[in-house]
Amino acid sequence: MAVDLLLGLQWGDEGKGKIVDVLTANYNIIARFQGGPNAGHTLEFDGIKHVLRTIPSGIFHDESINVIGNGVVIDPVVFAKELEGLDQFNLDYKTKLIISRKAHVILPTHRLLDAASEASKGKAKIGSTLKGIGPTYMDKTGRNGIRVGDLELSDWKEKYRALANKHEAMIAFYNVDVQYDLEEMEAEFFESIKVLKSLQFIDSEEYLYQAQKAGKTILAEGAQGSLLDIDFGTYPFVTSSNTTAAGACTGLGVAPNQIGDVYGIFKAYTTRVGSGPFPTELFDKVGEDMAIIGNEVGAVTGRARRCGWLDLVALKYACQVNGVTKLMMMKGDVLSGFKTLKICTAYKYKGETITHFPYNVEPENLEPIYTDFKGWKEDLTQMTDKSQFPKELNDYIAFLEKELEIPIHVVSVGPDRKQTIYM
Ligand code: GDP
Ligand code: IMO
Ligand code: MG
Repeated sequence: MAVDLLLGLQWGDEGKGKIVDVLTANYNIIARFQGGPNAGHTLEFDGIKHVLRTIPSGIFHDESINVIGNGVVIDPVVFAKELEGLDQFNLDYKTKLIISRKAHVILPTHRLLDAASEASKGKAKIGSTLKGIGPTYMDKTGRNGIRVGDLELSDWKEKYRALANKHEAMIAFYNVDVQYDLEEMEAEFFESIKVLKSLQFIDSEEYLYQAQKAGKTILAEGAQGSLLDIDFGTYPFVTSSNTTAAGACTGLGVAPNQIGDVYGIFKAYTTRVGSGPFPTELFDKVGEDMAIIGNEVGAVTGRARRCGWLDLVALKYACQVNGVTKLMMMKGDVLSGFKTLKICTAYKYKGETITHFPYNVEPENLEPIYTDFKGWKEDLTQMTDKSQFPKELNDYIAFLEKELEIPIHVVSVGPDRKQTIYM
């Protein structure tokens, strides 16, 4: 069986957690392929709201196996807390949750380095979630990292000490005010390692290969979004991994010719949290209303998310880079009541009109060109079938399908599992 992918097409928080949870009914295995605790994937069902960080969003289904792939970076401290938060659900993690030996470990000093690096940047800071993501991937590519499989070796603490000492020297080099008590952080870290080690570590590429051969269905779950991709995102205001489809191949060891459907998920408008350019950002009452109605507050950091109109130029680019086969439009319900809706269909870029996503999307070079759409008044949140959709929503959807040349497979009309309409 081919491996299907689900990934975000914007700057993250598109609603990946919700949709993976919904789709898990159709899959035997859910596998996270990149990112780490910078992610916050929200699921809602039976009146419960839950935010997952490193654990795949299939964890609440009895039948599914959840794999944390080699491309993920794991903070044992956050991970242990995440498991604790799941205690009330009586899930059998020992069999349901398995971890790649090749996944890298986030150390307490990686988090400190993240803070020192951001502090040293001043106004130019990335707006990182400060979870140690960048420094951990730097150690991975710099060939210094500690991997989950290392924790099974007797000498891993020596390797840890050497790396932590090096990190402390680097933190001092930044010469910024980062206060910390490493002894206290380490005590918590080593306790959490015990929790991590109580789970099954596997050679996940082999596991997934055999599962595929045996006809198991696999869904790869992305974190962040395509515009935060280290190569294709709005660099340097990006995360440190490949969030796009190719990241699933390297982050799980799945061959490119084994990829089936690529589900691309986007909000009916756009949000971004942290710094960096955002061509369609709104600074007026409309943007404020979107943030309030959409409850646009970061699931990890609690920061307000910046809001703006849907950017079709950026969305096309993301569909192209990922080879999206099916689209999922989230949070359509949030747009109910806006008199006019706008979609950015081109950019005025250095005096020219362009329809591709250029190298530089900083506001001084670029101005969005919009097409207006009549809004709808109807509340979508109670709708259960597409036949109930207002004409204006159908027009909005039809326009996107025509422009993107990809069908919209799902329209989500609320945060709950049940508020999901198949087209
Ligand atoms: P993720 O990181 O892509 O999993 O997305 P987040 O969980 O960070 O943010 C999405 C937010 O929107 C969460 O609070 C979800 O509960 C919520 N959500 C998801 N789909 C919908 C929807 O269709 N309508 C509304 N109103 N909220 C939604
Ligand atoms: P999910 O999976 C939204 C953003 C941060 C910052 C930049 C770099 O929930 O969609 P990092 O911590 O990786 O060094 O931060 O990326 N960012 C996210 N924004 N959703 C996320 O994940 C994000 N993960 C990182 O705000 O701008
Ligand atoms: Mg999120």
